[in-house]
Amino acid sequence: MKHFNKKLTFFIKTFGCAMNENDSEKLSGMLKALGYVEENDINKVGLVIFNTCSIRENADDRVFGNIGAIKTVKKTNPDLILAVCGCMMQQPEIVKKIVRTYPQVDLVFGTHNIHQFPELLNNFLVNGQRMIEVWEDSDAIVEDLPTDRRYPFKAFVTIMNGCNNFCTYCIVPYTRGREVSRQPGKIFNEVQALVADGCVEVTLLGQNVNSYGNDLEKDVNFANLLRKLNTIENLKRIRFMTSHPKDLTDAVIEAIADCDKVCNYIHLPIQSGSTRILKAMNRKYTQEDIINRVQKMKDRIPDVAITTDIIVGFPGETEEDFMETLKVIKACKFDSAFTFLYSIRTGTPAATMENQIPEEIKHDRINRCLEVLHQIGHDINQNYQDRVVEVLVEETSRNNPDRMTGRTRTGKLVIFEGDLSDIGKQVMIKITDAKTFSLDGKKIEQEETDGRINPYDDPVPENS
Ligand code: SAH
Ligand code: SF4
Ligand code: F3S
Repeated sequence: MKHFNKKLTFFIKTFGCAMNENDSEKLSGMLKALGYVEENDINKVGLVIFNTCSIRENADDRVFGNIGAIKTVKKTNPDLILAVCGCMMQQPEIVKKIVRTYPQVDLVFGTHNIHQFPELLNNFLVNGQRMIEVWEDSDAIVEDLPTDRRYPFKAFVTIMNGCNNFCTYCIVPYTRGREVSRQPGKIFNEVQALVADGCVEVTLLGQNVNSYGNDLEKDVNFANLLRKLNTIENLKRIRFMTSHPKDLTDAVIEAIADCDKVCNYIHLPIQSGSTRILKAMNRKYTQEDIINRVQKMKDRIPDVAITTDIIVGFPGETEEDFMETLKVIKACKFDSAFTFLYSIRTGTPAATMENQIPEEIKHDRINRCLEVLHQIGHDINQNYQDRVVEVLVEETSRNNPDRMTGRTRTGKLVIFEGDLSDIGKQVMIKITDAKTFSLDGKKIEQEETDGRINPYDDPVPENS
């Protein structure tokens, strides 16, 4: 039987957010445990996995383009197995389309049953029949799947799955199901094990980390989780995403302020600055709430960096509504933002709302929005000029092999002359050229900083 010739090599392409990346690390971990080896040449590889995202229409289009291309690859590599999983597969009409029009897809599974992947793959290998298995939802988190981490020194830790918020534009509650929080003890043990394995930075993941624990015992909440993880020795940095403004309590802000390992950085998507549009989006906060939360953070967390997400052209968004968004961006002075053109997602309430905004108006608004954001980002970055910052070095610069890149605690990308031995270390960098999207700097020896390592990126006076 021809399947006995299958090559034990795999290639995973991940679309979408950090959640999907973390899932891909688990898929890769399971495959490596089965003896599979990663291989980058798609023409030679035995198994290709597309872990898909459905957040906007162009995300769907890209995945279909990639699936389409495999048809040609299969002509020269006929033993290739194609597995498709992730958020797109949670939509029955998409699975139907794949079954009908993409015979090159051999295996389909969803976001709730990635742990079944080895079993599904095995079944396919044994009987050669297409396997389609998608769970609608799940109320349990499968613990202890092997994880093949991309970086030895930093890691994603999913603290909760799903989303209960049903923002009217968003597909995620349909693709990821309801919120399920992991037990704090399980998270603590995982982070402790990561640190024992050499990891110095963790990023806690959830669609809305601020509502962590709402489904668990009374005193389990995000603020307490941060405080608990902050006690782990040799862990240097704790990051988290994403925060929803409606659940960003004073307790969470105080925990960020109090915990030395929790970075002074927060990604806080506001989506719009117009209270009217926020209501239509079902975001459950107002313009005043945003300004109040941001002010509170700036007051309590020294040198905090705040980034956001903005959607332009939500149905019914008027020029006045859009001006409100610009007003809030200016008032909050976000360090940076991801900006999106509203994209219709079939099955969500906003898809059928009246007054869909023409594409040219969306484009005009996003351009004006970016102009304001870039100016603010540029001005904020100027404050870093000549400062000494702590950088966790991540990798070689894509543009110049003699330079390394890393991030400050505030999430700023820093580029400096260094070598591979810096990777995974925290180094002190003096910023020599603050640009709009990155900071160029020079490595300095610790003594030059007076031996003080300042967790908050505060300026270290050179001659003090
Ligand atoms: N859970 C996170 C966001 C996850 S999706 C939160 O609530 O903040 C990431 C971003 O994609 C969102 O913040 C939003 O800005 C954008 N997005 C989601 N649905 C969209 C749609 N239909 N059209 C355009 N952008 C969208
Ligand atoms: Fe989508 Fe809203 Fe949930 Fe974020 S909070 S994942 S935007 S429904
Ligand atoms: Fe995309 Fe799913 Fe993440 S839709 S953004 S991969 S949760």
